[in-house]
Amino acid sequence: MGWYAPVTAQGYYQHLPKVDLHRHLEGTLRVNTLLEIARQQAITLPVRADALHTLVQIQPDEPLNSTVFLSKFQALRQFYQTPEIIARVTREAIEDASTDGVRYLELRFTPLALARVRGFALGEVMDWVCESAAAASRDFDLPTRLIVSVNRHESVDIAAQVVELALQRRQRGIVALDLAGNEADFSAFPFLDVFRAAQNGGLKVTVHAGEWGGPGNVREAIEVFQADRIGHGVRVMEDQAVAALARERQTAFEVCVTSNFQSGVVPALKAHPIRRMLAEGLNVTLNTDDPGISQITLSDEYRVAAEEFGLSHAALAAVILAAVRASFLSEVEKMDLLRRITRQLDAAVD
Ligand code: ADE
Ligand code: ZN
Repeated sequence: MGWYAPVTAQGYYQHLPKVDLHRHLEGTLRVNTLLEIARQQAITLPVRADALHTLVQIQPDEPLNSTVFLSKFQALRQFYQTPEIIARVTREAIEDASTDGVRYLELRFTPLALARVRGFALGEVMDWVCESAAAASRDFDLPTRLIVSVNRHESVDIAAQVVELALQRRQRGIVALDLAGNEADFSAFPFLDVFRAAQNGGLKVTVHAGEWGGPGNVREAIEVFQADRIGHGVRVMEDQAVAALARERQTAFEVCVTSNFQSGVVPALKAHPIRRMLAEGLNVTLNTDDPGISQITLSDEYRVAAEEFGLSHAALAAVILAAVRASFLSEVEKMDLLRRITRQLDAAVD
């Protein structure tokens, strides 16, 4: 069984009450939905319909690097053709997380990615995601908060607009700003003022760093951007001083093991440093990143953590509780979730 055809973890891992802090809406697709959209909207695909999955999911014969990984998001942009489609993919993302036993979700989305193909207004797109997420959260009994992402390789001006619009929607579930995109070739620095404005307005901040860039980017995210959490950050292990800084601050790492393998961050799944990060006292959470692109679930990632990295059931439970503590909920909401998840874990953990 290859990594590209994971066994959906049934039973134990699915029943674990899990928390996902790092999941991109655009990476949470259902191929069948995309096929339906392609037909309805008469989208001209560069491949036959039965090969659509090759455009949007990592294939076993493809090079494992950031360029191929990010190309999937480019291919996906053409599908966001109507408000109904944007509402539908949001709903399905939350439904799929709920089915997988996720009990609290922070779903991030890139307004520009959803708006671009049809030239929708950024604020409109954000409203559609907020509305659909709120309804799906109720219908599938999955508390959900939203994070807006801006890409390093795209416009700083658009990022500034996104922040202004996000600040107006804090009452509608938007809790944070994320910096994503091509870390290999683009600096975070031009976005510093935009992130300061977000923080001053009350948004939390998470930065993709130490994924396709080195540990210096993790230091920058912590010290300069004052990030509350780091997306991935696994390359922190290349610099002991940065690891010590992260340990001291207890900055949470949003680790996504399979994504890191598929996008070339680590040369083999087994080479992932999650176990060493935990042993070093870093604040590690476990997440999916892009479950549709990677063809994984969060249950799969918990199974990998146990079976490939030898994490005990107690260690898995500790990672889940770390994610609750690192969440962008208010303190009162966090305490409530902690109580609920602890109760559910007591029932699930042997
Ligand atoms: N956007 C979606 N997934 C990403 C990742 N793993 N790194 C950076 N940007 C992303
Ligand atoms: Zn990500």
